[in-house]
Parts: sequence; structure tokens; C-alpha cells
Amino acid sequence: MSSSRFTSSLYLLTFALLLQNVLGTDPHFSRCSSNANSTANSFYKTSLNVLMGSLYHLAPVEGFALGSLGQNNQDRPYGLVLCRGDVSSSDCRTCAANATREIRKRCPNGKRAIIAYDNCLLKYSDSDFFGQIDDQNKFYMWNVNNVSNPVLFNEKTTELLSQLADKACYNSSKLYAAGEMDLLEGSMKLYGMAQCTRDLSSVDCKKCLDGAIGELPGVAYGKQGARVVGGSCMVIYEIYPFVKA
Ligand SMILES: *[C@@H]1O[C@H](CO)[C@@H](O)[C@H](O)[C@H]1NC(C)=O
Ligand SMILES: *[C@@H]1O[C@H](CO)[C@@H](O)[C@H](O)[C@H]1NC(C)=O
Ligand SMILES: *[C@@H]1O[C@H](CO)[C@@H](O)[C@H](O)[C@H]1NC(C)=O
Ligand SMILES: *[C@@H]1O[C@H](CO)[C@@H](O)[C@H](O)[C@H]1NC(C)=O
Repeated sequence: MSSSRFTSSLYLLTFALLLQNVLGTDPHFSRCSSNANSTANSFYKTSLNVLMGSLYHLAPVEGFALGSLGQNNQDRPYGLVLCRGDVSSSDCRTCAANATREIRKRCPNGKRAIIAYDNCLLKYSDSDFFGQIDDQNKFYMWNVNNVSNPVLFNEKTTELLSQLADKACYNSSKLYAAGEMDLLEGSMKLYGMAQCTRDLSSVDCKKCLDGAIGELPGVAYGKQGARVVGGSCMVIYEIYPFVKA
């Protein structure tokens, strides 16, 4: 096989993978605890299966569900499913079902796991993580294209996302906000989104989002778009409208 043919098929493959990711069919990120905390042959596994089954039925109703199952004196699973604030309940259902299926495949025996898609996040653990900011699970993505004025652009993204963070945390029962802002005298627009898992208090939601916004210059300075997706909150900005209705 000639190297040029090899290269072109590689490009095609990369493109196909990118496309899948944009469409949200592949998870962006997943993590599974090691076998040290194995669930093999345990009550935990049975409880986890029941819990996951009910969370993915409940999540589409409000875009969020959390719960725990089992006896107090035994290991019990705590789990949550969060859908992005702009997805329909049927897309939420599809995503939650896929996440549930996929995490079982990727993490058959771990007691702790997280998986994030474009449309939803699923997470479980044997410790009670509700109401706590998750600093351990974080995932970054950015648009490879650069902006021409990174200094100003960075100020604007911080301004927009900070406004959205305030709105999400203090003026939204879903801890979710999306919005836009004019750039360059209105010839260009900046679009953003901020969201927290609904087990967080308003104060912790803001803390989590401020942390994510503060990381953006370090991971995506001067990039036309980026997202920070964590186990408790996420922010996204782009220069094209990406919010799904
Ligand atoms: C869910 O999984 C099915 C089958 O693997 C796939 O066709 C579909 O695109 C996935 N949807 C999402 C939103 O991940
Ligand atoms: C295993 O469980 C213990 C106690 O619940 C926890 O401290 C530890 O971090 C866990 N290890 C892994 C790899 O998840
Ligand atoms: C963006 O800028 C970086 C750093 O200056 C450069 O390496 C990269 O090639 C640029 N990307 C594009 C798509 O032009
Ligand atoms: C909250 O939202 C409502 C309706 O969108 C708006 O009228 C109000 O001013 C907002 N309050 C704050 C504190 O932002």
C-alpha cells in the first residue's frame, strides 16, 4: 500500500471519528475505578443495576435524576444522570440509555464510574458525592481554529460565561443558562452555556463554574471555541450557535 493511500484513509477515519463526536454518538470521556473496589459478586452490583435502570427512566422527565439504593450498613451506590439543559426529553432518554449501556461495557466491575456524552452525563460511586464539587473528573475540548484578537476575545468569553454562571446558579431552577454576546461591533457573535448538576447548592454551582471558566485561558487561549466538562458542572463557548433549540 502506498503511503499516500494510507494517509488519505487515515484522514477519512479521523474525519469519521470527529463527525461521530460532533453528533454526540460517542462518549467524550469516561473513567472507571480500578478493580481494587470491585463489584464482582456483590449486592452492590445488583443495587447498581436497579438504580441505573430507574435513573435512566427518570432523567428524561426533568433532565436530571439522582438516587441511592441499598441498606445503610452495606456498600450502596449513589448515582446521577444529567442531560444538557437544551436537549429534548427524547434525546435525553436516548443519551441516558446509551450511557447506561456503554458504562456497563466499559466498567463491568468498578464501583465508581463516570461517562460524558454531548447530551448527557452519568456518574455513580460507592461514596455519597451528592452536593460536593467533583474536582477529579474533568475533560477539555477546543475548536482548533484561532481568533485574531485573543486578548479581547478572552475577556469577552470570560464576561459572557460569568454572566451565564450567575444566571445558571442564582436564577434557574435547572442550574442551566445559555446566551450570546456581540463581538466586534456586532459583526460576530459569541455563544455560551453554563450548567451544574442539580445536587449542588447555588454557591457551589458558582464555585464550580468559576473554576471551569478560570481554566479556559490555560487550556484554550485564543481558540474559537472550547468546553470544560466536569463531574459537577460544564461551560461551553463557540462563535457559532450550538444550542439545540
Ligand atoms: C445510541 O446508541 C445507538 C446504538 O449504538 C446509536 O445508533 C445512537 O446514535 C446512539 N445515540 C446517542 C445519542 O448516543
Ligand atoms: C476504594 O474505596 C475506598 C473506600 O470507599 C476509597 O477510599 C478508595 O479511593 C477507592 N479506590 C478506588 C480505586 O476507587
Ligand atoms: C493556532 O495557533 C497555534 C499557536 O500559534 C498554531 O500552532 C496553530 O497551527 C493555529 N491553528 C490554526 C488552525 O491555524
Ligand atoms: C431572574 O430571571 C427573571 C426572568 O428571566 C428576571 O426578571 C430577573 O431579573 C432575574 N433575576 C436576577 C437576580 O437575575
